[in-house]
Amino acid sequence: MSNVFPRQITNPPIKAVSSDGCYIIDENGKQYFDGSGGAAVSCLGHGDPDVIKAVQDQTSKMAFAHTGFFSSDPAEELAELLIDNAPGELDRVYFVSGGSEAIEAAIKLARQFHIENGEPSRHHIIARKQSYHGNTLGALAAGGNKWRRNQFEPILIDASHISPCYEYVDKLKEETSFDYGQRVAQELEDEILRLGTDKVMAFIVEPVVGATMGAVPAVPGYFKKVRNICDKYGVLLILDEVMCGMGRTGHLFASEFDEIAPDILCIAKGLGAGYQPIGAMLCSKNIYNRLGKGSGFFQHGHTYMGHPVACAAALAVLKAILNRKLLSSIKSKSNQLFNCLETQLGHHPNIGDIRGRGLFIGIEIVKNIETKKPFDPNLKVAASIKHAAFEAGLICYPMSGTRDGKWGDHILLAPPFIINENQIIELVNKLSISIESLK
Ligand SMILES: Cc1ncc(COP(=O)(O)O)c(C=O)c1O
Repeated sequence: MSNVFPRQITNPPIKAVSSDGCYIIDENGKQYFDGSGGAAVSCLGHGDPDVIKAVQDQTSKMAFAHTGFFSSDPAEELAELLIDNAPGELDRVYFVSGGSEAIEAAIKLARQFHIENGEPSRHHIIARKQSYHGNTLGALAAGGNKWRRNQFEPILIDASHISPCYEYVDKLKEETSFDYGQRVAQELEDEILRLGTDKVMAFIVEPVVGATMGAVPAVPGYFKKVRNICDKYGVLLILDEVMCGMGRTGHLFASEFDEIAPDILCIAKGLGAGYQPIGAMLCSKNIYNRLGKGSGFFQHGHTYMGHPVACAAALAVLKAILNRKLLSSIKSKSNQLFNCLETQLGHHPNIGDIRGRGLFIGIEIVKNIETKKPFDPNLKVAASIKHAAFEAGLICYPMSGTRDGKWGDHILLAPPFIINENQIIELVNKLSISIESLK
């Protein structure tokens, strides 16, 4: 008998009892390769001695001091290192306990900024269809995944959802990738004009879409146009790098690839790498100074924000990513993993697309690769691959609803950055076995 409220009431999980490197071991001694780092969390793998030591040291020195009274060395040092490496004018870091909290803080900061900037009519969020920004009410309202939103719709704030940049499915044959990107980015300007140029406070977007679409990056030129439109209309650009940030794509911040900088940026997951629950919202000097010269405070806060032990863990993770030169090794490991996937799965009749960036890879499963038609949702293809993979000793992150929240299936891979050559082969072999179970 368990008193834990699990995710799936009808199918509660077995217990994990230990973990080591890229593996998690269950209560029966079975070993699983962690091919998705849980959900793009465990970027350093399990049992990293430096992070464990940082947590132990900070816990014995000072586990907690409320941020209403104190800052702490780990929070200060972590903020400085993040800002030293962050794009554009990002200047301040607001530490929270996870991704949804970071998004909530971003939405509220955008609203408060516009009020203190003399534009109180700005309150509308624009986001994209098929995005995921978290499960708290503000973050869920921003997200564009119908399945996640449906039953909560009556209690969500209003948000507009424009098309994602989803080249595999939506680019017209006669269009170049660039033109396609410009076309879908134009929807942002059209929506701002439709709502009223004095009404929109922020556009929120994942640089590489994770859970809901399976590692979908934008085409070249898309984000430059988005940035220009936001600047033209005074709309804040919030980048959600909760899943794709912190080195996952081979860049510390995913948006570096697109050569743009946001006004607000959210990170979590790989920031604490699973050693502690932590997220962060980074904002520009301009936003911070506006509040500084105005009300002098941000009307927000959580008990555990800036938790010293969480910050100490994240500081050790960030130092590991930077000092162990993991970002450059991600690029070569990414090539190996893509090659291996292409060789073993590229000719499979149901593998429509293998995409992504760095160690953030999506595999889209289709019924027919010519027409790109997905499987009937009633077949629950993603769920059966997840089950088969788990049986085969592989943790990956399959999801249905890739196309519109209902149709489509994909598998997301986000292995630890420490994955080695043999483990890449192990991952792809186990994944192939799981996909074969489709027949
Ligand atoms: C892009 C993105 N934003 C926000 C979140 C929410 O993060 P959390 O689950 O830590 O609240 C997630 C979680 O998967 C995510 O992928």
